[in-house]
Amino acid sequence: MKPVPISEKMDLKAYLEEKRTRINGALDRFVPKDQEYPPDLHRAMRYSLFAGGKRLRPVLTMAGCEAAGGDPEAALVPACAMEMIHTYSLIHDDLPAMDDDDLRRGMATNHKVFGEALAILAGDGLLTLAFGIVSEPAASALTERIRLQIVAELARAAGCRGMVGGQSVDILSEHAPEIDVPTLEYIHTHKTGALIRGAVRIGALAAGAGEETMTALTHYGDRVGLAFQIADDVLDVIGTEKELGKQVGHDRKRGKKTYPGLYGVAESRDRARELATNAVAAIGNLGSGAEPLRAIAHYVVERVN
Ligand code: IPE
Ligand code: IPE
Ligand code: MG
Ligand code: MG
Ligand code: MG
Repeated sequence: MKPVPISEKMDLKAYLEEKRTRINGALDRFVPKDQEYPPDLHRAMRYSLFAGGKRLRPVLTMAGCEAAGGDPEAALVPACAMEMIHTYSLIHDDLPAMDDDDLRRGMATNHKVFGEALAILAGDGLLTLAFGIVSEPAASALTERIRLQIVAELARAAGCRGMVGGQSVDILSEHAPEIDVPTLEYIHTHKTGALIRGAVRIGALAAGAGEETMTALTHYGDRVGLAFQIADDVLDVIGTEKELGKQVGHDRKRGKKTYPGLYGVAESRDRARELATNAVAAIGNLGSGAEPLRAIAHYVVERVN
């Protein structure tokens, strides 16, 4: 299958840059400064949060809001919450007890710099702060009802039926002699897909989306979520450490269950591209406000980092 060209209808690079700037500015305001007591904890939280990162999940939250007819700015606070939860998941994912990685976002991993205990606590701090900023009435103009819906969605996406569930099966399946397709799919749709699906849905919630729009955006999020992790697996095989800012070839070394491991690189890429095409089809009725999401679906599978 040929790569699908990134949308000609919009300048995705400029869109991503603009949204990232908004998100980074807001994150900086929400996370305690290094100097605030206890400084070591806040330094560890900020270290990983501001080490770079594509900001894909918060961008999806803002783009999901726009696709549902809302003002993307209305989704800025929940978008920051999504990024805090994602960054926490990365800090914990890199711990020696999990994937034991030394490099993340082009820098030494959190536990390498601050030690394991502080890395665990920095993750805990980010996770808790995420729920704090979404539920805080003064932080956004979202109604109480919508804030509560978003809190529930964050919990669903991040918890034992979402990301944490996927991470547990990922770890327990390392070095298992073989894996069946439903289990591999469970790992990918949960450890990564759940936050991506949640990111899009939370944007739609911030826009007050109706049922039909929510269903379309949920299908989009499901497909992009799985495609994203397949692309991540592929990049671990064919990507470079320089480009990715993380070590490559680790999945194989750790006996991780991956799409290229089961299907090979070429078939995995085809699957990811097919999912991106299906994701775009799922939001076919949503009009021009969904243009950023359409471009992002293709970007997710063609990216090099
Ligand atoms: C990496 O996510 C972890 C996965 C879920 C595959 P990203 O590739 O989005 O990492 P950052 O946020 O850009 O660092
Ligand atoms: C990570 O999956 C998923 C989460 C952090 C929830 P990976 O373990 O494949 O991510 P990388 O490759 O370390 O970024
Ligand atoms: Mg992992
Ligand atoms: Mg990992
Ligand atoms: Mg990976």
